[in-house]
Amino acid sequence: MTARKQILVTGGAGYIGSHMVLALLDAGETPVVLDNLSTGTRLAVPADVPFYEGDCGDPSLVESIIRERDIDTIIHFAASIVVPVSVADPLAYYENNTVKSRSLIERAVRAGVSTFIFSSTAAVYGNPESVPVREDSLTSPINPYGRSKLMTEWMLSDTAHARPLKYFALRYFNVAGADPAGRSGQSSPDATHLIKVAVQAATGKRSGMDVFGTDYPTPDGSCVRDYVHVSDLAQAHLDALRHLRGGGESAVSNIGYGHGFSVLEVIEAVKKESGVDFEVRLKDRRSGDPAVLVASNERAQSLLKWTPRYDSLPVIIRDALAWERKLSERLSAGRT
Ligand code: UFG
Repeated sequence: MTARKQILVTGGAGYIGSHMVLALLDAGETPVVLDNLSTGTRLAVPADVPFYEGDCGDPSLVESIIRERDIDTIIHFAASIVVPVSVADPLAYYENNTVKSRSLIERAVRAGVSTFIFSSTAAVYGNPESVPVREDSLTSPINPYGRSKLMTEWMLSDTAHARPLKYFALRYFNVAGADPAGRSGQSSPDATHLIKVAVQAATGKRSGMDVFGTDYPTPDGSCVRDYVHVSDLAQAHLDALRHLRGGGESAVSNIGYGHGFSVLEVIEAVKKESGVDFEVRLKDRRSGDPAVLVASNERAQSLLKWTPRYDSLPVIIRDALAWERKLSERLSAGRT
């Protein structure tokens, strides 16, 4: 019997990547992590998982890992992810998200990797013409972050036509929450994402929080997003892997629940779950934010047979709060 091929997870020490590593281990797969620890932490990766500290844009390192570990699948998370920073520093985003992805794809093709799963984003749609947004809707990103990811989708699609590589691009909506078993969560103290910021405010790590814009064309004037539990998202990657291994075609799919909550609704829910009435400051719009982003998930359900288990805002918030409290304990015990 030949040994089971291994799966390279770039960005596996980061928030979403670390949940993917856990999901792969739970599914009996063999992950290998490559992470430059720019935002991730070594602690997020179980000690017995092979770990390479380095850059996914480093061709010789990638090539040696692929050969050394007999990699046949790459799940590519390593990226910069903050929309407003991409507006302020677009070239950094094109470098990190597009140029390095190109290098990684090239190494994958040269080394005979058969399967590539890519962490894409709802930001490729920009301000969608209608919601829930379907995968065949116009892709018209309104910020460099979305464009940097869309270009990678194009590179994968073109490469899959020309070479024997299959890919699946998952367009994530707003990922939040933490591993329900408490093994991982969002650990970066400088995170900018709404639910993370709100649970930091609820646990006293911030003196309140800001709402960016209350004059959007939405029921309460704040932006509406489709918040998806990080463990359901990790499961979608396993489903994509099964699809491709089973002979399925390369494709793109949204990953979201198909319903949204406004910023003000999310903040109220965090206050309710935590029992803490933190300060909320109403501010101007943040650049690059679309008003409403909600997924159609028909394709994920039909093609990938994706069956979410945690489609509940209170559950997402409870898991995020539990993780935030765990981080506080770690901090006071001197482990970061
Ligand atoms: N927001 C606040 N205050 C905060 C943080 C966020 O009001 O302190 C607002 C934002 O302005 C936005 C909403 O909360 O209206 C969500 O913002 P996030 O920063 O949490 O997430 P984004 O919607 O900007 O981006 C995320 C991912 C992208 C993905 C996108 C899809 O980072 O990869 O969701 O909706 F494309």
